[in-house]
Amino acid sequence: MTLHKHPRLIPLLLALLLITGCSQARFNPITTTPAPQPGLTPQRIILNLTQSPATSQAVTWRTNSIVTSPKAEIAKATGSPVFRTRAATVTARSESVTSNDSPLFFYHSATFKDLEPETLYAYRVGDGAHWSEWNQFRTAAAAPKPFSFVYFGDPQEEAGSMCARTFRIAYQKAPDAAFWHFVGDMVDNGDQDNEWQELFDAFGWIPRTTPFILLPGNHAYPDKRYVKGDAFKIFSLWRPQFTLPQNGPKGLEETAYFIDYQGVRFIMLNGNEKLQEQAEWLDTVLSNNPQPWTIAAIHQPIYSTGRKRNDHHRQELFVPVFDKYSVDLVLQGHEHNYARTQKLFNNQPATAPHRGTVYVTSVCGPKSYPANHRYDHLVETIGTGRQLFQVIRVDGNKLTYEAFDSAGNPYDRVELDK
Ligand SMILES: [Fe+2]
Ligand SMILES: [Fe+2]
Repeated sequence: MTLHKHPRLIPLLLALLLITGCSQARFNPITTTPAPQPGLTPQRIILNLTQSPATSQAVTWRTNSIVTSPKAEIAKATGSPVFRTRAATVTARSESVTSNDSPLFFYHSATFKDLEPETLYAYRVGDGAHWSEWNQFRTAAAAPKPFSFVYFGDPQEEAGSMCARTFRIAYQKAPDAAFWHFVGDMVDNGDQDNEWQELFDAFGWIPRTTPFILLPGNHAYPDKRYVKGDAFKIFSLWRPQFTLPQNGPKGLEETAYFIDYQGVRFIMLNGNEKLQEQAEWLDTVLSNNPQPWTIAAIHQPIYSTGRKRNDHHRQELFVPVFDKYSVDLVLQGHEHNYARTQKLFNNQPATAPHRGTVYVTSVCGPKSYPANHRYDHLVETIGTGRQLFQVIRVDGNKLTYEAFDSAGNPYDRVELDK
């Protein structure tokens, strides 16, 4: 309808506008409350485990606009809303970041310390005027105690369209998982903010309540074929987005580190650079390991099921250390297919007295490559063309590993005993 064809409607519309304006003036008196500023609303809130998950917890978020006093609040969660009155304030650190495809963003990071083990806490993040919702997390036990976590291979592509269902069914299958463990290639182009946005949208509120631990894959770096020397370094979006431990080799902060969680030492390796330094560091970290179980993770597999690639370098560097300390499990990604080995020692099926190490490669995104069968003499389960997630439960002397596809069907299973 166009007004010039209906001139008699014009006075009617003017009258309507006047009435609406008057009623707003009458029922919405001027207040001193500032208008909400979308640029100050916390986004992409994510919990990360610290080196001491029984007594501390890290959280990271970002805003579009600069925040003068970024902070978090925390209190023991109770069933009553009164918990809010007992909240303590923690000051956050901020940094500004830009990427290839996005304007300036401001990332904020806070670490809650001096927490009580095995306790449910509520927290929120913001600036005093613009707050997130209250979210909750539970601290770890201070000593070995049964728990589960979920391990995912590469999401990488079509996070919004195709990975969301995998994340959701994983959450339904193991809602009490202590944390989610990723092994790299979170997105295809780690310098593209729009891809990270798609991924965070697919995660929904899960990282606000289930802490994540993760390490970088090759897609968090520029392409090694074209970028060498000092220019080969992790994309600038990685570190600001997370608050991960910095107890690894120098220069690999928040990309190689270890965490002790209820009887398991988790070791994250960065398979992209400084491999020799990491092999030496790994030996040191494992030589002084009080935890009964050890689980290592690296993006690029030790026994590759990739079509063409089969890099022996990581095998030569890391297998002697894994063997020396009887690492129980190695979690990997990169190949966009699935493989789980037998227990191996010295690149062969383990025989007594050696305990052996199980190596797993998995994928959660829709991108699939055929599996190369060069290591079939070491492998128990191999396949491709499935979006998978793995629920791993550690309970005293038993570790139960179960892989499921994104329709919830069991795909693989193994039990390890101490
Ligand atoms: Fe990769
Ligand atoms: Fe990948």
